[in-house]
Amino acid sequence: MIIVIANQKGGVGKTTTAINLSAACALQGKRVLLIDLDPQGNSSLSFIDSQRIDGGAFELFTELQKPWEDFIYSTNIKKLNLVPARINLAKLEAKLVGDFDAIFRLRDRIEQIKEQYDLIIIDTPPTLGLITVNALVAATHVLIPIQSSYFALEGTDDLLETIEKVRARPNPDLDLLGVLVTLFDKRTSLSKDVEAHIRKVFGDKAFKTIITRSVRLEESPAHKEAIFTYAPNSSGALEYKRLSKEVLKRV
Ligand SMILES: Nc1ncnc2c1ncn2[C@@H]1O[C@H](COP(=O)(O)OP(=O)(O)O)[C@@H](O)[C@H]1O
Ligand SMILES: [Mg+2]
Repeated sequence: MIIVIANQKGGVGKTTTAINLSAACALQGKRVLLIDLDPQGNSSLSFIDSQRIDGGAFELFTELQKPWEDFIYSTNIKKLNLVPARINLAKLEAKLVGDFDAIFRLRDRIEQIKEQYDLIIIDTPPTLGLITVNALVAATHVLIPIQSSYFALEGTDDLLETIEKVRARPNPDLDLLGVLVTLFDKRTSLSKDVEAHIRKVFGDKAFKTIITRSVRLEESPAHKEAIFTYAPNSSGALEYKRLSKEVLKRV
């Protein structure tokens, strides 16, 4: 099962979801690999120090003769491994342009190790460029986080169109796993209106679980921890655990 977390808008909770969904599934006994494909490396830095990283996603795409072991790092969660991203990943698209197999790079790579994991989760950058397309081509499922704000659905047409294009040719089996309402603010009626609208547009594809805005979720990456060890009784921990159960039931 290979889940890509995608939305070309920044700040909608992709990374927070990638980190905590990975951690939740690993804590439930699944062997999980989190692949960070955002040059910002926020998923990576939520688990390991930048000094520890030499070699990660960029090298995975470009140094094809090197084995996976060179790019996989353990985390403080037993069953969770990580392929980190560094800023050099920002140069990847320029490097791959013109290669006839550019959009298949990640899929070919994942083919070599997918038996070793129950679940591979891919965090993506806020663009619909070659990196995100590589992730969509490699994945079996896509999860779309949507921030419950006024402009929530703006841009989703482009994302859904890209998903359709990927499905038309390179990856017909790609499924929309679900749409996740994030950064929900209980105090505002706007949040509730946006949630209702998302449920109307996406129907059953909208996860029952929603992720509310919480300071603990925002703080945990700075402590190099997922929410389950940083604040195990917080709303964020309960919500991401509930989400993981919904996800595992759907895949
Ligand atoms: N549920 C939440 N409650 C509070 N802060 C959140 C929540 N989800 C994400 N954030 C914060 O919002 C910012 C953007 O989230 P992030 O997951 O990095 O989004 P993206 O990866 O889509 O850019 C980060 O600072 C993150 O810590
Ligand atoms: Mg991110």
